Amino acid sequence: MLLEVKGLKKVFTRGEESVEALRGVSLSVERGEFISIMGPSGSGKSTLLHLIGGLDRPSAGSISISGQSIETFTDQNLSVFRRRKLGFIFQFFNLLPTLSALENVALPLLLDGQSLGQVQPKAKELLERIGMGKRIHHLPDQLSGGEMQRVAIARALVTDPLLILADEPTGNLDSKTGATVLQILSELSTEKSNTILMVTHDAKAASFGKRVISLRDGQIEKDLPASQHHLTADVRRLREDDAGGF
Ligand SMILES: Nc1ncnc2c1ncn2[C@@H]1O[C@H](COP(=O)(O)OP(=O)(O)O)[C@@H](O)[C@H]1O
Ligand SMILES: [Mg+2]
Repeated sequence: MLLEVKGLKKVFTRGEESVEALRGVSLSVERGEFISIMGPSGSGKSTLLHLIGGLDRPSAGSISISGQSIETFTDQNLSVFRRRKLGFIFQFFNLLPTLSALENVALPLLLDGQSLGQVQPKAKELLERIGMGKRIHHLPDQLSGGEMQRVAIARALVTDPLLILADEPTGNLDSKTGATVLQILSELSTEKSNTILMVTHDAKAASFGKRVISLRDGQIEKDLPASQHHLTADVRRLREDDAGGF
């Protein structure tokens, strides 16, 4: 089992008020799965992803990634684990504006003490693989939204992460560019056995996953193969129309 989450709870407290963002979430993920996490705004999707990604600590419950209980890690160990073992793809790319596409992709390895000379071939190969071979020396502001998101995907892959965590990765892309990005994620899971957890509130984006987990009020409402998810039939047809050109 690549990921095992048990009885996960998260309570946010602000002054007198407390919000139960997650109320006992359990799930297991095998290597190579591409899972979409859906649910209305405020249902706890991002909180779940942040806890699994070690960006925040649970109030209760356990998270085990490749047999390691990350909730027992010190902050420092957690941050090293995050950088070496996890790949993050968020909506706003988080690329450093003064670094080229190539340097942004190489960054996680540079932070781990490797030299640019060492890591350049790998970063370049990843950019080429996702169709960015002609843009490697561009700065982020010289790239389109879809190109920036592809750089972010390459950066998430450069460490060969155990698990890729994506939060609304197509949230600020037009639908055609979004479909390309989703197609790339889908290929990574089928061809490279990358394991992907993708949060989205969009049914069409969710249909690219093989398994769809829906959250409601901080709990899992449904956890089904995409083929059995009631949203999927119509949406899959749309997806095939849209992604057909790639
Ligand atoms: N840092 C925080 N402080 C207080 N409340 C938060 C915080 N993060 C999330 N919440 C609350 O937790 C609930 C779940 O939020 P979130 O996980 O962001 O939902 P989603 O990503 O599904 O829209 C919401 O009610 C939200 O307001
Ligand atoms: Mg969110």
